[in-house]
Amino acid sequence: MHEISVKDLQASPVKMIADDWALLTAGNPSDFNTMTVSWGGVGELWGRDVVFVFVRPQRYTREFMEKYDRFTLSFFDGGCKTEMGVCGSKSGRDIDKCAETGLKPVAFGDAVSFETAKTVFVCKKLAKWDLTPDGFLDPSIAANYTAEDYHRMYVGEIEHVYRCD
Ligand SMILES: Cc1cc2nc3c(=O)[nH]c(=O)nc-3n(C[C@H](O)[C@H](O)[C@H](O)COP(=O)(O)O)c2cc1C
Repeated sequence: MHEISVKDLQASPVKMIADDWALLTAGNPSDFNTMTVSWGGVGELWGRDVVFVFVRPQRYTREFMEKYDRFTLSFFDGGCKTEMGVCGSKSGRDIDKCAETGLKPVAFGDAVSFETAKTVFVCKKLAKWDLTPDGFLDPSIAANYTAEDYHRMYVGEIEHVYRCD
């Protein structure tokens, strides 16, 4: 893997997240959890390159997002959908996701990604907010929250982007 600038990404970040999905992994090499995400964004805020990720309260990964400063987003160029299906439907509270999927964790400094990832963002938490329904201007958005499990949005500074071509 070699480091690139986020501005040199060849793929659309919208496609990377919405269609190809990503693994959001929080924690360090000795204590981490990962889950699949397909909502989020990449952009610019406070003069920094950032990602936005959205994590519901019941996710085990959220405990790691709260506990640790860094997280990664790992992208697989449309591959690893079976593995991401497992990581997106089962909880790390109940299974060992690496053992179940064969995903092999790799340390990126204090953070963790996986051997088969094609693009890895290493991010540092900058801010977080809980979504609240009074902010929904389009009433149809509420249909995403029938259990009132409003996402917590985390803004992460993209510290490094690694790409395997
Ligand atoms: C394609 C896909 C996208 C998902 N996107 C999100 C997301 O953006 N935010 C979220 O909170 N959960 C999302 N999920 C659900 C979590 O990945 C899922 O609940 C997972 O089992 C949580 O694992 P954990 O309890 O180990 O954290 C998604 C699931 C799938 C299959």
